[in-house]
Amino acid sequence: MKKTKNTGTTASTPSDAEVAKRVDALLEQMSLEEKVGQLNQVGGAEFALGPKAEDQIRKGGAGSVLWLNDTKKFNELQKIAVEESPSGIPLLFALDVIHGYHTIFPIPLAMAASWDPDVPEMSQTIAAKEARAAGLHWTFGPMIDIARDARWGRIAEGAGEDPYLGSVMAAAQVRGFQGEDISDPERVLACAKHFAGYGYSEGGRDYDPVYLSETQLRNIVLPPFEAAVQAGVATFMSAYMDLNDVPASGNQFLLRQILRQEWGFSGFVVSDAFAVGNLVIQGHARDKRDAALRCIKAGLNMDMSSYSYTGNVADLVADGSLTVSEIDELVRPILALKVKMGLFENPYVDEELLARVLALPEHRETSRWAAQRSMVLLKNEGGILPLSKDVKNVAVIGPLADSMEATEGSWMVFGHKPAAVTVLAGIRAKLPEAAVIYAPGPEIRRDIPSWFESAMIGPPSKPAQTPEDAEAAFQKALETAQAADHIVMVLGETDVMSGEAASRASLDLPGRQDDLLKAVTAMGKPIVLVLLNGRPLSFNWAAEHIPAILEAWEPGTEGGNAVADILFGDVNPGGKLPVSFPRKGSHAPLYYARNLTHSPEGSRMYNPRYWDGLPIPLYPFGYGLSYTTFEFSNLKVSAPQIKTGDSVTVSVDVTNTGQVTGDEVAQLYIHQKYGTDTRPMRELKGFQRVSIQPGETKKVNFQLGPDELKYWSTNARKWLQEAAAFDIWIGADSLATLHAELEVIG
Ligand code: NOJ
Repeated sequence: MKKTKNTGTTASTPSDAEVAKRVDALLEQMSLEEKVGQLNQVGGAEFALGPKAEDQIRKGGAGSVLWLNDTKKFNELQKIAVEESPSGIPLLFALDVIHGYHTIFPIPLAMAASWDPDVPEMSQTIAAKEARAAGLHWTFGPMIDIARDARWGRIAEGAGEDPYLGSVMAAAQVRGFQGEDISDPERVLACAKHFAGYGYSEGGRDYDPVYLSETQLRNIVLPPFEAAVQAGVATFMSAYMDLNDVPASGNQFLLRQILRQEWGFSGFVVSDAFAVGNLVIQGHARDKRDAALRCIKAGLNMDMSSYSYTGNVADLVADGSLTVSEIDELVRPILALKVKMGLFENPYVDEELLARVLALPEHRETSRWAAQRSMVLLKNEGGILPLSKDVKNVAVIGPLADSMEATEGSWMVFGHKPAAVTVLAGIRAKLPEAAVIYAPGPEIRRDIPSWFESAMIGPPSKPAQTPEDAEAAFQKALETAQAADHIVMVLGETDVMSGEAASRASLDLPGRQDDLLKAVTAMGKPIVLVLLNGRPLSFNWAAEHIPAILEAWEPGTEGGNAVADILFGDVNPGGKLPVSFPRKGSHAPLYYARNLTHSPEGSRMYNPRYWDGLPIPLYPFGYGLSYTTFEFSNLKVSAPQIKTGDSVTVSVDVTNTGQVTGDEVAQLYIHQKYGTDTRPMRELKGFQRVSIQPGETKKVNFQLGPDELKYWSTNARKWLQEAAAFDIWIGADSLATLHAELEVIG
């Protein structure tokens, strides 16, 4: 598959000194109200609070607009900003373009399952190009929250449980969105969110408070954010929830100490939606004015649509609580980015451009390639897959088999109409000669509807099935399955079952899907299970009884084609799980990088902490099969002993021992055996996805040095690289057994 890079002309970016000069000149001429206006992001959607966007913009009361996806309207609003507002400062148009604007790519959790940073980079490059052509300047992505609790719905939007994999994917997405230079007219500003700790909400319940030690924060949650800063991310979004009893948007420790002082971030921070005003609801601020004061003191630049800065900041300056230079400090990076992007020179979008960009064939091609690389083969007993293209008939069964929504996944941009190739359509296209019959079975729905869906998309279009209708649909599915020789079941969760406001307590297949699967399996025909879902699920029965299972996630516009490519052997799957799949929701949080316990049993990878079922994953982190087989051998460390600060090369041979070319992901894990703090029993510190021909052996090399061996120590309250002994494992998943040792001396 051809990979696309943007080739758009790049206007030369002004030097930092020139930018600073222009920003100073602007600040010189702006009134305090206009400065506060730059810190105000106004909403263009019906549910947005506050006065009409046009009125705000005209008086210089808005720096940015969100929740609007209308190219013509962008130009109209921009004209008001540029021609009618006092200082003529152009607006930034912002929207959630999380995994595609028009061409939809696999959800970020799926892209992480590719273990190939090119997948998110290429996908977000195209997402940026389409979004920019529509008139957008800024996306609220990447979402890079580490999530170890599969009950949390937003696990779909991130890269899963691991800080190392998460950091690689975070940087790749930033490169994709922003390119090398933000003056590139085919790129958008990226926004690293949600800073920080949102993935640790108690019980996996969305928005609940988060309690994190500094150890967890610095070793697990923050690395992807720091990687985003190093990749040059232009903006950050502060999270909603309390982090250790301080709301993230008013959190000085996060926004000043870590982000600015320690990492030297020079862009700007926007709050999550309404979050500044919500400090009052959260019981942290007395009123909106107090909320504004706390957030500004904490270093939060832009208020996303709570209108807490507007009207209050001027008073806070007047009564001496804030100074104008404190406000200037927050306005400066916003203006600087507008200057650097070239918005003063080119504030408008060519209204003809979008149609041309959307027609580019490589967008869909890249989406199909990304989906193929993201899928994970979980089981293939007896080599039932790939299926032959000569089959005469196939029954495609399940509520998601022909669902464009479930194929595209959560987080569609405003006004987007799903247009994905479903699994049913993909199989039909692959088998033009065969009879492909279909029945959805009973529908699946959330027990409690999503308020988020109502706000963003509108309420469900159809009333819920009656029990009688559901039973009839169940029987119809059985009849359909009975009429074919081969069965593909497409089960999982709908698009609104994961994502924002979509946490759940159980990880079982919702509705009657398990019953349907059991009834169809009882027919004794060859059966394959394709899963569409945005989180790990606990399909224990299926894992035991269904011979072939493909985790397809929410694979995007070309998802159904990519599934068919894999099922019928045109593509050999090579994705790996970026997150552990628990056997029950009550086992969450479940992750591989746990600490050992005092008990010798603790030395087992997953120790028996419960007497009513071992909390071992159904499928472990890093796991995934191929249509071929691989063997790892010859693990070598270039020196048995090194000094702190030095590095070693660790190498391994990977041999394709099967019959077809395939991809394997060599994964390197370490364990520091003793030290100032206890370290996790395994931590991923390197990976490489390699394509290997049958019979071929490839050598894979990794560097292990101070960056990989250091950690934040709670005991020492600083970063340490210690003299200690380390275990090293390399293999195909987090249970890798090929082992070596390394000693680091002082
Ligand atoms: C709330 C979500 O938490 C955030 O991720 C998103 O970017 C904003 N709303 C804006 O839509």
